Amino acid sequence: MSLINRSKQVILEHQHTSGAFVASPAFDHYRYSWLRDGTFIAYSLDCVGETEAAERFFSWAAGTIEAHRHKASDIIERTRRGEEIPQHLLLHTRYTVDGQEVQGEWGTYQLDGYGTWLWGMSEHLKNSGNEDFARKVKPTLTLIAEYLLPLWRMPNFDCWEEYGDLVHPSTVAAIYGGLKSIRPWVDEPLRQSIESELSVIKHYLLSMGTQDGRFIKSIGSQDVDASLLWLHVPFSVVEGGHPVMVATVKEIEETLLHQNGVHRYAHDVYYGGGQWVFLSAWLGWHYAETGNLNRSVELLKWVEGQFNNEGHLPEQVHHHMLAPEHFSRWVEQWGAPACPLLWSHALHLILASKVEFPQKKD
Ligand code: BGC
Repeated sequence: MSLINRSKQVILEHQHTSGAFVASPAFDHYRYSWLRDGTFIAYSLDCVGETEAAERFFSWAAGTIEAHRHKASDIIERTRRGEEIPQHLLLHTRYTVDGQEVQGEWGTYQLDGYGTWLWGMSEHLKNSGNEDFARKVKPTLTLIAEYLLPLWRMPNFDCWEEYGDLVHPSTVAAIYGGLKSIRPWVDEPLRQSIESELSVIKHYLLSMGTQDGRFIKSIGSQDVDASLLWLHVPFSVVEGGHPVMVATVKEIEETLLHQNGVHRYAHDVYYGGGQWVFLSAWLGWHYAETGNLNRSVELLKWVEGQFNNEGHLPEQVHHHMLAPEHFSRWVEQWGAPACPLLWSHALHLILASKVEFPQKKD
C-alpha cells in the first residue's frame, strides 16, 4: 500500500461513528476531538477526494457548536454591551466524540480552532458544492463569525495550548482566514462587518504582530514560532512572497529547522522539544504554494521517512531535541509520545496533494 493510502486509512479507520476524529487514539490525553486538528484532518480528506467523510466531521462540529450555542450567544450579547469577556466563558477547544466539553485542567480557551473551522467549512463547501449542507450549517457559520468578530484581540491560549495571557499572531491569522473565507456563506450586514474588520486585523498583524520585519510568536515577543507559517498557508494574511513572510520563513529555517525536521519554537520542552512531523509538511506546503516544488518534495520525503513499522506517523520525532533533558520526565508522566497523530497523517496528505496538484503560485 502506498504511504498516501496508508495515511488515508489511518485517518478513516479512526473516525468515530459520530464523525469526530480523536487527535490520537493511542494517547490518553488526546482521546478527544479538537476543532483545530479535526478541521485539518477533514480538509486533508477533501484534498484526496474523501468528501463524505470530511462532511461527517464538519457536520459533527456544527452539531457540537449548536449544542453549546447558548455560550456563544451569551458572549455575543456581552460584547454588544461592551463587557469584558472572562476566558472561562469561551467555547472549549476540544470535545468528547459525542460533543461534550471535557472537564479538568487544560488550556482549553482557544480561538484559533473556530477560525480554522470556518476556513475548513468554506473549503469543504467550495469543494463539495453541497448547497443543502451550506443551508443547513449557515446559522452555525453565522454564529461563529459573530462570536469571533469582537474577540480576536483577546488573549487566549495559542495553538500549542500555552501562554493563555498573550495574543498570538497565528491565532489571529486563523480568525482572519476563517472570517475572510466564510463571507460568501453569510448574509448582510454580517458580511460587511467582516469586510471592514478584515483590514483592521491585517493592519494589526503587520504592525503589532511583527518585529524587525518578520512575524512574531506573540505580541511583544521577539521569538519566532513555526505556526507562523499559517499567515501564508492556509490563512492568506499575506502571500508567500511578501517580504514579511519571506523573513519569517528565513527565521524559522535558521532557528527551528534541523535536517528537514521543524521544531515548534526555541524554548519548547514538551517531550524534549522534538521535531513535529506536520510542521515539516507545513513548510513544504508553503513552498508548494510559492512554486518551489523541489523543496516541497524534499520535505515530503522527510515526512514519509518518519512512518514507523506499523505505518503510523507520530506527533513528534526525537532525532534532534531542543531540550533532551525534559524527554524522560514527560514519558514518566504521560507515557510514550502520541502516535499515530491523525493531524500528522493529515498534513502528509495535504502536502502530497499540493505537490501533485500545485494550485497557486505567488
Ligand atoms: C498540541 C495541540 C493539539 C493537541 C492535540 C497538543 O499537544 O499542542 O496543537 O491540538 O495536542 O493534537
